[in-house]
Amino acid sequence: LETRRRKTSDFRLILGASNLARLRNERPLVFVRGKGIFLWDEAGREYLEASSSFYCAALGFSDSEISDAAVEQLRRLPFSISAGHRTTDVTVELSERLAAFAPFPNARIAFANSGSEANDALIKFVRFANVARGESKRRKIICRAGSYHGCTTLLAGLGSSRELQQAFGLVADDIITVSQPDLRNALPGESTTEFLARIVAELEEAIVQAGPETIAAFIAEPVSFSAGFVIPPLGYFQSIAQVLRRYRIRLLADEIVTGFYRLGTPMGWQVLDVPCDGLTVGKALTAAFAPMGALLIDESLYDELCTGTAQGLFGHVSTYAGHPLCAAVALRVLQTLERRGIDRHVAAIQPRFRQMLESLRTHVLVSNTRALGLAGAVALKIPDTKASLAMWQIASAVQACALARGLLVRLNGDVVILAPPLIIDDAEIVELGSRLRSALDGARSLLETPERIVMDPTVTHPNRSHR
Ligand SMILES: Cc1ncc(COP(=O)(O)O)c(C=O)c1O
Repeated sequence: LETRRRKTSDFRLILGASNLARLRNERPLVFVRGKGIFLWDEAGREYLEASSSFYCAALGFSDSEISDAAVEQLRRLPFSISAGHRTTDVTVELSERLAAFAPFPNARIAFANSGSEANDALIKFVRFANVARGESKRRKIICRAGSYHGCTTLLAGLGSSRELQQAFGLVADDIITVSQPDLRNALPGESTTEFLARIVAELEEAIVQAGPETIAAFIAEPVSFSAGFVIPPLGYFQSIAQVLRRYRIRLLADEIVTGFYRLGTPMGWQVLDVPCDGLTVGKALTAAFAPMGALLIDESLYDELCTGTAQGLFGHVSTYAGHPLCAAVALRVLQTLERRGIDRHVAAIQPRFRQMLESLRTHVLVSNTRALGLAGAVALKIPDTKASLAMWQIASAVQACALARGLLVRLNGDVVILAPPLIIDDAEIVELGSRLRSALDGARSLLETPERIVMDPTVTHPNRSHR
């Protein structure tokens, strides 16, 4: 704590999803080293990273095979542009390998520098194709409330609260927001089938109301982490795909978090049966050893892009997209995941992960838990005896107590989200569970004197408001 307090006035960094006023006066956590699933801060304290640092570090924080691939590439060819009818060998090789992760044959790949840029480009491509087809009015994007797809001026408005849209002066005219398929929003007495039918009817109503000829695409993550780890009911994606097909609206899958074995299968669309026309990846693609995003599109969309550029140039470039350093890292990550049998490891370890979460269900601050693959959520509740407290107090207390016990988790409103590095082993799952239980116990004690709880704005995702 001493180190954190010392250098305050000259702290120049602006950090997103942070309280800027607090940042001015209080040095944030600064990490200096990592090994396996653990990180160490500048004061020498150890932390177990149970959310893979915003769902990125799939292989943890020290993998010499991946760092070696980076160094080898930097020595051989640090950079050459991937645009203007030129590229590099590793960029080509990665595109060939990535095509196998698409649900459609003959996928075409474009690279980006982040997940946001990949989603932004995918929407841009779809709109371009629509213009090329003579349907320039088809611009609107349907998203689900609480979902997050990125930080650009286009994406920040998707799924976000009206307050956030207004705060950043975002133009939300082209955005249609529908409900999240979150069974917690089912009406009293409503069955899963009835709930699903209602959600699908709501989508169709929204399409008809907005005018189908104005809608370009529907974007969704197979499981929405930002909306509180929402696993849709079985058949959800198949049912909405039918509606979308009827109105010729493309279904885009955002696999930036769910891609690359997080949910147990190579991609999230495989476990949730998402028949998408295009998808985006990022985060675990490079296991976070380098920044990279990518979009995979089906052949029909690619054909339309070709038609649109028949007379000239496809006017989309991003200087570092497809950077050979990132491509070499991603290639080695994909090879490593396969060679080490990460799918078998996730399959073997996920029952333990699920059991660990389920063992927390009886805790007074827990309403329920859910898990899929190596991702899971602990939904918090306000204890009956503390009915006067607000959810932000519970969440802030849990976050503070987790940090104090060397545990890094994501808190989204009333949900603690866990997505540890895929390399986590049995003993580390036990350790994670014990730190989390201790954090919940600590929070319960802290709630005895709620005036001591400091509001932590990081516990709310910008897209979600406290419930
Ligand atoms: C589902 C989803 N899509 C897109 C993004 C944006 O990715 P990036 O932050 O790499 O731009 C995120 C980031 O958290 C995400 O969770």
